[in-house]
Amino acid sequence: MSETAKIIVGNQTHEFPVLTGTEHEKAIDTRELRAQTGYVTYDDGYANTASCESAITFIDGEQGILRYRGYDIQELAIQSNFLETAYLLIYGELPTIPQLQGFRHLVLRNAAIHQGMFNFFEAFPNNSHPMAILSAMLNSLGCYYPEMASNNREQDLEHLDNAATILISKVRTLAAMSYRMKHGLIFIHPKPELPYCSNFLHMMFSEPYAEYKFNPVVDRALNLILLLHADHEQNCSTSTVRMVASGGANLFASASAGVCALWGPAHGGANMAVIHMLEQIHRDGDDGSRFIAAAKSGDRSRRLMGFGHRVYKNYDPRAKILKKTCADVLGTLGVSDPLLDIALKLEEAATHDKYFLARKLYPNVDFYSGIIMRAIGIPVDMFTVMFAIGRLPGWIGHWRELATSHSPIHRPRQIYTGSPRREFVPIDKR
Ligand code: ACO
Repeated sequence: MSETAKIIVGNQTHEFPVLTGTEHEKAIDTRELRAQTGYVTYDDGYANTASCESAITFIDGEQGILRYRGYDIQELAIQSNFLETAYLLIYGELPTIPQLQGFRHLVLRNAAIHQGMFNFFEAFPNNSHPMAILSAMLNSLGCYYPEMASNNREQDLEHLDNAATILISKVRTLAAMSYRMKHGLIFIHPKPELPYCSNFLHMMFSEPYAEYKFNPVVDRALNLILLLHADHEQNCSTSTVRMVASGGANLFASASAGVCALWGPAHGGANMAVIHMLEQIHRDGDDGSRFIAAAKSGDRSRRLMGFGHRVYKNYDPRAKILKKTCADVLGTLGVSDPLLDIALKLEEAATHDKYFLARKLYPNVDFYSGIIMRAIGIPVDMFTVMFAIGRLPGWIGHWRELATSHSPIHRPRQIYTGSPRREFVPIDKR
């Protein structure tokens, strides 16, 4: 007999089915709870709530396992690249050669931006945050493709191949344009013959008489960073994308909402905080020990940034990969960054310290990614934008999964704690 769970409310016992995932994770299916008991569940922050069934990403935080569509992240990191992994996340299977060629062709040929969007850029103040621009621009993109952004699910799904590749391609152009606008530089047009990551670096760093020089090590490192960020199951931004999509909103609008959700410092902004912390330690001439001592004080604002994770209670598998890449990239580029030495020392000290061991705090994906991006020349205020470029295929995969499911509009309940009913008092009598 299949497993069930019993909930006793007053003197009544109610029985609910238990769902079991592919990796044997269990959930009590409470969809009938309110109908049966009149009660709802309370789970602030949803830490104990599965909001959906999903076949995209599996994480075992205790073991430090991350898999996209069943493939271990380590294998993908070594053998795949960002575009192939993007295809896998969106469509569920690794592409064949013709499928990948078709996908890549659509991505590479879609990099250019409509002239009208150049005008939008000119209207933003110079000090606009690149995440604000990115979110506005991704939503605006839909206006140029009304047949793909119809908010009619069947129609939007029919155009998904085009919409997905337009987003994955143009997000680089828009990101590079926001950087150049901020620095008063002229816009550089994409070069479709360059690979995905190098085309982005060309649009960021080329000058009219000094073209960005393709570097395979840098191209590979950026591919890896994007691939490692490409999905992470029901995190804040992905849940936001699904929530927006559940109301029937098109892919462009849903992805734009994902950018807004990612922007916050507790989500996509942590990679910047790590660099600021390492710079501070460097400036203070600390070998890291004072910082570690302060991080153990319990003061939230003194935490060791890039350490700890809500889900991983083990080494984040992405951090393991990036630690190695960091040393390789800096070595190949001949860059000597004192921040890497500080990071290595911090990790060595923290991973042998009782405080961090007892709380299962290990480096997360943000601990080394920033040092690699710095070596490539990407400014710190663009780090969250890089995260968004990487996360886009995951958002698209989740949009597709939701749009092809029978999931109802997402509409959580609440426990109302405001005033009971009271009489309105006219303004002159208050
Ligand atoms: N440095 C020092 N102490 C820490 C740290 C840290 N980085 N992280 C957690 N702790 C301590 C807490 O003070 C707490 O100690 P206590 O039990 O004595 O009170 C204990 O470890 C558990 O902390 P929680 O906040 O309950 O852990 P949670 O799993 O909720 O938090 C989080 C995870 C927010 C990531 C946290 O570890 C943190 O703030 N890390 C630093 C910021 C960071 O790197 N964020 C990026 C996460 S990865 C990503 O989003 C892509």
